[in-house]
Amino acid sequence: MARDKTLIVGNWKMNLNMGEASLYVHQLSKMVKPHRDVEVILAPTSLVLQSLSLQINPRQFKLAAQNFYWRDQGAYTGEISASQLRGVVQYALVGHSERRHVFHESDKDTRAKVQAAIRNRIKPILCIGETAFERSEGETNDVLHDQLIGGLANITSEELEQVAIAYEPVWAIGSGQNAVPADVTAAARAIRSQIKHLYGEKAANNIAILYGGSVKEDSAADYLALDEIDGLLVGGASLDAHVFNEIIKKAHKPASAGKE
Ligand code: PGA
Repeated sequence: MARDKTLIVGNWKMNLNMGEASLYVHQLSKMVKPHRDVEVILAPTSLVLQSLSLQINPRQFKLAAQNFYWRDQGAYTGEISASQLRGVVQYALVGHSERRHVFHESDKDTRAKVQAAIRNRIKPILCIGETAFERSEGETNDVLHDQLIGGLANITSEELEQVAIAYEPVWAIGSGQNAVPADVTAAARAIRSQIKHLYGEKAANNIAILYGGSVKEDSAADYLALDEIDGLLVGGASLDAHVFNEIIKKAHKPASAGKE
């Protein structure tokens, strides 16, 4: 995905029911000013995607699915497909660490979902990141490498233009223990170098890389100021519309400061 906009994604996970979601969007819509350099993306529970798609101003907010099944239709009780989400969401999270670790999704599942999203004109945000153990063993770059290769196999360079990568160290998600900016830069460089190896220098320079993992109002600006980082994936701190708005406001300045 091109790096012309800063992407601020709010991943609500399994929080907010229909009434709460609608109220939240109502509150946030009064605070957020549409900005051509910032894309605000809400990832609510699937249950409310359709009603929110009718409630939001599409210039102000985009919607993302938190998850979907990779087949387009069929006898898959309880699942939602990317073809059903088509036209409702513009983005989808793929390979979030909770999908990988709680629901045991493999790189094979992740790859099939990246392909299904692209096939249905939904931009996948491919989430990758190491566990605390893998970091302590010095395996961070190997994990990023494997998850990138695993998620992007069979994706052409043209299709890669629809993809964003989110670097989310597993140990930082929901833990209150966020990664230090220098480590985020190092991880983003490792990701770009791997993309360069797979798709060439232009693709590596163009791909949007987000950071996620315990981003809060007071740490958001530190990541957004990093040259390598093009946005944030925010979980817990996105659940309060006022706090999320403060994070969105921080994206305005670095985004218009002319980062590549
Ligand atoms: P967190 O979640 O901000 O609550 O750590 C981030 C994520 O899971 O995307």
